[in-house]
Amino acid sequence: MTLSNHYPSLKNKVVFISGGATGIGANLVEAFCRQQARVAFVDIQDDEAQKLIATIEHIAGASTPVYFHCDLVDIDRLRAVIDDVGASIGPIGVLINNAASDTRHDFRSVTEDYWNERININLRHAFFAIQAVHAQMLLLGGGSIINFGSMSWYECQGNMTGYTTSKAGLEGMTRGLARDLGTDRIRINTLTPGWVMTERQLRDWVDENTAEEIHRSQCLKDRLMPEDISAMALFLASDDSKMCSAQNFIVDGGWI
Ligand SMILES: NC(=O)c1ccc[n+]([C@@H]2O[C@H](COP(=O)([O-])OP(=O)(O)OC[C@H]3O[C@@H](n4cnc5c(N)ncnc54)[C@H](O)[C@@H]3O)[C@@H](O)[C@H]2O)c1
Repeated sequence: MTLSNHYPSLKNKVVFISGGATGIGANLVEAFCRQQARVAFVDIQDDEAQKLIATIEHIAGASTPVYFHCDLVDIDRLRAVIDDVGASIGPIGVLINNAASDTRHDFRSVTEDYWNERININLRHAFFAIQAVHAQMLLLGGGSIINFGSMSWYECQGNMTGYTTSKAGLEGMTRGLARDLGTDRIRINTLTPGWVMTERQLRDWVDENTAEEIHRSQCLKDRLMPEDISAMALFLASDDSKMCSAQNFIVDGGWI
């Protein structure tokens, strides 16, 4: 489904998206390109990133995104890419901290190294990306930051404590930075998806039982799709949400 809303304030805005090669991130990249934003995205899946760019190049009226290989565990590399984007494309006005990894793990066998890895993939990079874009947003007189949360920890989902702890932490990060950033007219919000039917989710996790669980739990019986999440991200990035900050915006089909 192609989103119908058009946000003039996003045209030519520089948008930085982490984990943009696949899943919800890929849909975000496409959605912002359709708004003619100048999109830079990072990931580690180079082939998928190139495939996405090739697809978007064929969309009439869309801008072409720029891809940088960046393992987000490497904070020096992340800082260098953000500086590069600012210098070569323009100051970043929208930061979307989307990248994550929900690999399952039994808490009994988690080592210190594995714990640190989970936190580094799911939480740490978001903070340092915010720190790195701050100076660029100051040049623009403001900006919008979107941290991706998850409903999983509200629902006490097990077998992924490194992930759920990080996602709870991201919400805390949003609240904890909103006042510091607000004085610079930088908005920061959490966008919390429910269970989104990306190709990977359908392949790895959604069997008949879970499909039934989704049907039972969502007030709205349609499947939640990446574009439903992008629709909220476009709004939060645009000037239409100029007085929204420090909040958590949930898009989950009414999961009860
Ligand atoms: N899909 C869902 O049902 C769902 C539910 C709740 C929350 N979310 C959140 O939405 C966001 C996107 O979800 P998704 O399902 O598309 O995620 P995903 O895991 O399918 O994709 C994440 C992207 O991040 C990239 N990535 C992972 N580790 C990286 C690293 N070290 N460096 C650079 N890139 C890296 C991956 O290659 C991938 O392209 C995540 O923050 C996720 O936690 C998703």
